[in-house]
Formats: sequence, structure tokens, C-alpha cells
Amino acid sequence: MATYLPFILLLASIFIYELRKRRLKLPPGPKGLPIVGNWFQLPAQRETVKTYNRWAEQYGDIVHVKDFGRYVFILNSLKAVDDLLEKRSNIYSSRPQFIMFHKLMGFGETTTFLPYGDKWRKHRTLFNQQMNKRAIDQFEGSQYEAIEELLRSILNSPTRTHEHFRHMTGSIVLRFAYGYKAKAKDDPIYGVLNSNGAAFARAIIPGAFLVDNIPILRYVPDWFPGAEFKKFATETRKRLQHSRELPFQTVKAELRAGNASPSFMANALTELGTDDESNEDVQAVKWVANAFWAAGTDTTAATIAAFIQAMGTFPATMKKAQKEIDDVVGHTRFPEFNDRSALPYLDAILKETMRWAPIFPAALPHSTTVDDVYEGYQIPAGSIVIPNVWRILKDPETYPDPSVFRPERFLPDENGGICEKDPTLTGAFGYGRRICAGKNLADATVWLAIATLLWAFDFSDPRDENGKKLDPKVPPPPGAFFAPQKYTMDITPRSKEIEALIREGA
Ligand code: HEM
Repeated sequence: MATYLPFILLLASIFIYELRKRRLKLPPGPKGLPIVGNWFQLPAQRETVKTYNRWAEQYGDIVHVKDFGRYVFILNSLKAVDDLLEKRSNIYSSRPQFIMFHKLMGFGETTTFLPYGDKWRKHRTLFNQQMNKRAIDQFEGSQYEAIEELLRSILNSPTRTHEHFRHMTGSIVLRFAYGYKAKAKDDPIYGVLNSNGAAFARAIIPGAFLVDNIPILRYVPDWFPGAEFKKFATETRKRLQHSRELPFQTVKAELRAGNASPSFMANALTELGTDDESNEDVQAVKWVANAFWAAGTDTTAATIAAFIQAMGTFPATMKKAQKEIDDVVGHTRFPEFNDRSALPYLDAILKETMRWAPIFPAALPHSTTVDDVYEGYQIPAGSIVIPNVWRILKDPETYPDPSVFRPERFLPDENGGICEKDPTLTGAFGYGRRICAGKNLADATVWLAIATLLWAFDFSDPRDENGKKLDPKVPPPPGAFFAPQKYTMDITPRSKEIEALIREGA
């Protein structure tokens, strides 16, 4: 009997779901199967945006699908996202919780995946304190160092830009979070912090583990046949703990020895006046610092990679931006943050990069905390709500000719008004109370990269791994994260003076 208990419970929960569903008025969506619902059609890491867009064409702005006993709503328009994730953010700001990913593996304690509540608020308060402009300005020096190292690396090995971008964004985040200066691309700290990449990618896919749909399976003993998932979870949890602990112990020792460099962690622990690990605030500091790395490295690197792809593909835009930089900066010094207000076209390029190739094409799923009604449809508490960011940022009504990279769309028109909506507010950084917690740092790093790379190099002829010219229209990524495809292109220094300046910095 005990063997069948999980299945009896599963059937009971599905029966309750079906009974409830009959009474609810839900938005349209694809027809599912009994018990599993649309589980087989849910795109997971395959064809995410294409599937959502197909459903949007068929069913409209708000689509309902069922994942076993869970209600999933896909929002396909800016209006729906604005009405729900922004205007009703008090009830649309939690995250879906999965047994394997959140509880067993331990990712549920990270800022990004915490449910809405006091703990999450504490994390966001820490972020807000350290992510204001003044706090970021203190780290300008390390951003300049990282970008100059990037330029030298590109000069020396121009075909390995993706690696260089990752090292640059990683070293900025490490300086900011822990005051740690990464020595090179193979610094051992990267191995520790990246050790869970594969486990994360596997477990974030909804339904990847049966225990998510049959929760009682979490209690089967580790030796039970088929319980390998428990070993996998335990190993991941250990690595996650190590990646949080190692930098914390280092900063703690440095603070005690009086030689800690300024950093988020050093500042926060000093303000708290304790490094006692049983203290909840100290725990929050550890998690938040870890979130800097996990949420801030690949995202920023991928955005910069998408930017140079755009420059190689749209040479007239690149030339126009370089003219703006030459007029303000010249060729005898590096661009600086102080130049920003005199370079409006660069700001427009930053916005257009985030619209053209949004790194999270389906943001991250939100979830609801109470029952709600929208346009006559019922949205029960605990529903998963997914914004179709790709569709919103490629909507021709808001952004005409959406596949064309055209920064001018964000510059004032002849009446002085801004033509099109700022994508950093319409989806590239997400929505409502869960909007990206690191967006000020991301904005500063990406801006500096755009300004300095355009000042330093010409980019041309982007080609894929087989040497084929890249399509100027970026295709929707297959999964939920936009990693620009691997490409190479010709990258040449723009002048002898610039090349000499880059080498001099070495
Ligand atoms: C260009 C680079 C970046 C992009 C495009 C980006 C985008 C996003 C998006 C779309 C979300 C989901 C928002 C939602 O659920 O509605 C998010 C969340 C988050 N981001 Fe970023 N991000 C970037 C860089 C960073 C950096 C540098 C950091 C930290 C140093 C960071 C920290 C976070 C955190 C902690 C969250 C979770 C917020 C929460 O759940 O409350 N991000 N980001």
C-alpha cells in the first residue's frame, strides 16, 4: 500500500485540480491530456519562445496551460504584463517553488528564487543599499581595470571574445561582491563558483524530476531504487554551500586581520557589526553576495556579446556611434563614465541591444500569492505567471521593424518626445517587485563596455562556426536564456594611437 501512496496522492491532487478547474473561468490555451495536462507540450529548454508565440497567435494575450496540477499563465502583451506584474505586483511577486530545485538542491535560498516574503525583502534591502549609484561609483576603478584587460585580451586573441567577456564581467562582480581580484581566466575561484552550472541547468527545467510532480517522493530513503536524484541533490547542495562559504570565510579573515578591500560583503558585515554565522542577517549577506555572481556574470557577458554581434551586422550604426565618441573622447584617452551625458547615441545603442537580444526572453517566472481575477478570468493563488518578453520587445506596434537594430528609435523625435518605450523598463530587466536587483551595476558595466569597445575597435563580417555569414535577424533562442550563438568576426584596432594606448596599459 505504502508503495502506491505517492500515486494515490497525486491522483487525489489532480482530481481536486480538475474539480476546481471546472468551476473556474480560465483563459484559452492548448488542450492537454488527463493527469499530466500540457506537460508534454511545455517547452522547457526547447523552443520556448517559438512555442509561446504560436500559442499567442492562436489564443491571444493571455494563455493558460496546465503542468500536472499547476496553473501556468503566459502573458503575451505589454498591457497584460503591466496590468498584472506591475500594477498588481503586491500579489504577483513570488516565485514558483519546486521540490528538487528549491528544497533538495538548495537553490530556493538564493535571492532570485526565494518566495515573496520577509526573507526575500531582507535580501532586496541589502541589494538596494549596495546597488545605488554612489556605491557603484566607488568601484569605477575596478571596472576600468577590467575593461582595459579586456581590450588587451581582444588584441591578443580576437577569436575568443566570449571567454574574454566572461572574465571581464566575472572579475567586476567578484571585486564588487568580495573585493577579490581574479588573476586570470583560469583563477580557481571561477571553478568553485561555476561548479553547479550543469546541475542548475538540468534542474531549472520544470518537470525534469518526478519528485516535483509527486512531492512525497522526497521522503524515499536514499538507498531506494530510483532515488539517485537524492544523491544528485545532496552533492549539488554541498557544492552550493562551498561556493557561498569559501569567499565568506576569506572576507571574514581579512576583516579580522584589518586588510579587507572595500566590497559588498566587507561593508555589509562591518555595518552589521558581526560575522556570527548563526545570525540571519549574516546568512542573508552570504546569499546576496552569491547572487551577484550567479545572476550578474553570464547575463552581462551575453549582453556585451550580443552588442558586438549587432555592431558587426549593422556597420552604419557602428560608424555613427564611433563618430559620436571621437568627437567627445578622441583617440588619446579611454572613454570614462563622465563622458556618458555627452554620448546620447550610445545610450540608445544600449537600450536597442537589450531589446534586440533580450537575455531572458521569458524573464523569470513569477507566481501569485492570492486568488485574482483579470478580464473575467480567474488566476488562482500559486499560479505560475510567465511574461513573454521576447514577443513584447519585438512587438511591431511598440517597436516598428522589430528585427532591425535601430538605436534612433530611442532618441527624441522632432517634437522632442521619445519615440519608443525604453526596453529596460518594458522587459529586458523583468517586471514589478522582482525586477533585476543588479540593473544599476549591469547598466554601468554594459555602458562602459559599449563605449570602450566602439572607441577601440572596428567589428565586421560576423560568421558562425562554419564560416557562414550571420543572419542580421536574431532568431529566438531555443531555451529560456539568450546565449548569443558562437561567432567570430574581424576585429581591428581603429588607429595606431588607440592600439598603443591599449598596449601601454599592460
Ligand atoms: C545585462 C545584464 C543583466 C540582465 C539583462 C538581467 C536581467 C534580469 C531579469 C530579466 C531578471 C528577472 C526579473 C523578473 O523576474 O521579473 C533578473 C533578476 C535578477 N537579477 Fe539581473 N540582469 C542582469 C545583470 C544582473 C547583475 C549584474 C546582477 C547582480 C550583480 C543581477 C542580479 C539579479 C538578481 C539578484 C535577480 C533576482 C531578483 C529577484 O528575484 O528579486 N542581475 N535580472
